[in-house]
Amino acid sequence: MKRWLLRALAALLVVVAALVAFVWIRSAAALGQHYAIDEPPLALPTDAASLAHGERVAIMRGCRICHAPDLAGHVEMDVPPIGRLAAPNLTRGHGGLGATLSVADWERAIRHGVAPDGRPLLFMPARDFANLSDADTAALIAWARQVPPVDREMPPPRVGPVGRALFAFGRMPNLLEARLIDQHAPHEAAVAATPTADYGRYLAGACVGCHGEHFSGGAIPGLPPSFPKAANLTPDPATGLGKWSEADFVHTLRTGKRPDGTALDPFMPWRNLAQMNDTEMAALWAYLRTLPPRPRGRR
Ligand code: HEC
Ligand code: HEC
Repeated sequence: MKRWLLRALAALLVVVAALVAFVWIRSAAALGQHYAIDEPPLALPTDAASLAHGERVAIMRGCRICHAPDLAGHVEMDVPPIGRLAAPNLTRGHGGLGATLSVADWERAIRHGVAPDGRPLLFMPARDFANLSDADTAALIAWARQVPPVDREMPPPRVGPVGRALFAFGRMPNLLEARLIDQHAPHEAAVAATPTADYGRYLAGACVGCHGEHFSGGAIPGLPPSFPKAANLTPDPATGLGKWSEADFVHTLRTGKRPDGTALDPFMPWRNLAQMNDTEMAALWAYLRTLPPRPRGRR
């Protein structure tokens, strides 16, 4: 072999080794980070109305999309190079975490994205839940702790080498949402359920993970290209909801069909969101109208 070719190959090898080392060190540092979360304890309600409200919070925030309708766990994605998005069994059944999680553990997982031992949870979209009020969080936990026990052993979530590389280069920030949350931000005691943009902003926390911080949609970070791109929910007339009416919005979420009759990809959790009540729908719509229009994909 020509000497220059050998030199070029050696240089390439050095570059590849440096990249691998960078990815490994960077992701290992983030995965190994320890979070000390010290929140005042939540008092759980026990009355039927609060438990029913807790179930509504779970519906709005999509807990059952990943943890399954019975909360006993579900594998949303398993692509070995990227990782396995496996949400654990949260019930008190065999293989479930329900029997061991304290109220503080639930709160730490939901609003902080942190496990009982202080490690950051993988893929758990806690940034979408970090704004939950104390009252809603307490109702949610109270409801989740009394769902019927289901026996189901779940494989653990994991991240593969491509997932690590995406994360190290900032392309999969939602792998460890604990990093994206202001862990010392105060929480509101309660939020009034009114058909206003304010309440809509609060509810729309549940859409950010897929539709992006600015609601302009596009590819969802961390998901392989086979997954659909999220729609633009800003009032942009060309690629967003600029031409939609409130009735179009409600009809789409309740039926899974857009105004032009085309069906939404089932990855958009409309069956779940269809259960929103009129106040929640009106609040979300009011809030989406206040967003500055953006072209699709400028998340
Ligand atoms: C995008 C999918 C997804 C959604 C939506 C989701 N979770 Fe999770 N959740 C996960 C995954 C994955 C884990 C496991 C993370 C790990 O062990 O590293 C997890 C872990 C948990 C844990 C256990 C933490 C522990 O101690 O190990 C709790 C509790 C939890 N989720 C509650 C909820 C609640 C309540 C909601 C709704 C507000 C919710 N999750 C929504 C994916 C999800
Ligand atoms: C798990 C990811 C996910 C979550 C969470 C999610 N969406 Fe979506 N949404 C999508 C995807 C993907 C599409 C595009 C579907 C398609 O192409 O058929 C979409 C499409 C839509 C559409 C149709 C718009 C159009 O122009 O086609 C509306 C309206 C919508 N979402 C509203 C919401 C609202 C409001 C929330 C929060 C309350 C939300 N979505 C939460 C993934 C999600």
